[in-house]
Amino acid sequence: MLYANLTPAPADSILGLTEAYKKDVNPKKVNLGVGVYMDERGRTPILQAVKKAEKILLDTQDTKTYLPIAGAPEYGQVVQELLFGADSVKKDGGRMRTAHTPGGTGGLRIGAEFLRKVAPKATVWLSSPTWANHKGIFAAAGFKTSDYPYYDPASHGIDFSGLTACLDKIPEGDIVLLHVCCHNPTGVDLSAEQWSEVIRIAQARRWIPFLDFAYQGFGVGVEEDGAILKPLLATGLEFFISSSFSKNFGLYQERVGALTLVAGDTAAVEAAFSHVKATIRVVYSNPSAHGGAIVTTILRDDALRSLWRSELDAMRERIAAVRKDFVGQLHARGASMDFSYIEKQKGMFSFSGLSDAQVQYLRDKKGIYMVAGGRINVAGILPNNIGYLCESVQEALQQAH
Ligand code: LMR
Repeated sequence: MLYANLTPAPADSILGLTEAYKKDVNPKKVNLGVGVYMDERGRTPILQAVKKAEKILLDTQDTKTYLPIAGAPEYGQVVQELLFGADSVKKDGGRMRTAHTPGGTGGLRIGAEFLRKVAPKATVWLSSPTWANHKGIFAAAGFKTSDYPYYDPASHGIDFSGLTACLDKIPEGDIVLLHVCCHNPTGVDLSAEQWSEVIRIAQARRWIPFLDFAYQGFGVGVEEDGAILKPLLATGLEFFISSSFSKNFGLYQERVGALTLVAGDTAAVEAAFSHVKATIRVVYSNPSAHGGAIVTTILRDDALRSLWRSELDAMRERIAAVRKDFVGQLHARGASMDFSYIEKQKGMFSFSGLSDAQVQYLRDKKGIYMVAGGRINVAGILPNNIGYLCESVQEALQQAH
């Protein structure tokens, strides 16, 4: 009886909410859990640019043979250009290599598995708070994790003195996971000046930046969201980037992401990348092709690329408009808390400021699902649920503390 003494694993703190939401019979239920974009009718549409790219692929693809271990080279090229811009890739591309991974999670995990080979004693430093899966990913690869201060609940901003004091003490060779934009779960990002200081500390202390970039284009814009990447490249430091195209191309179920390594020079990156490929080979051998082919097709075609950008702009703008509307309606109902900080946060998520008791109250009594800690997916707020949501939040503020 192999499983006789097995106790069930706890439900996933984010994806488990979707399962619970689906089972809920409350006709007014609202899902503000998982980070999936919804339009104002509550649908997660396939982008037009994606549909068009898929038609092209259907007509032109002539084989289903394996991709190389690291994916198609042209995919690696478009990912690098999206991150750093074509000019930087022309200049510094020799120092970087990109592997096509199953989503951003795959990029993080492959990066973690590779780092275990080269830095087995390192501690991985995570922002407090961070995406619920970060700790699990690095722990599964065998790393010890620790937290650095990030969010300041009192100001709803960054605890920048706490952050820099901690980063300044992290030893050389440790790994620091940083969110490039649209910090998950808080929606609070570092300013350009604050990033400069973080990069300066990374150079002085020589810890290894591992950048999680899952929301490019959801903050301010495609280039603006990645503005820190070029200055980081210019330092000559070695670093990692995990990209996800789940949200910005709406390709969630295609599991399309990337791991990009930047090293000091070509010889170093080639050596490192050979080990990344060896790591991939024993985990999933080589990536599935479809999602990466869609991204490559869109980014290599001027018309599709500009269609994609306008669709991405529309998603970002809807979220910004919802933030405004949500805050306006909460205040109009006389909410006892000032929620205006929600409008300043970036990306899909908002750290609502609700306590765990209030989150639980909303789930149990109102069928409104949000992640513990008070993270809400702003895109889940729709014209047909915003009134119910605001009224319920108001009630939770009075009933639970
Ligand atoms: C989220 O944070 O909700 C998304 O990144 C989806 C996930 O896998 O957790």
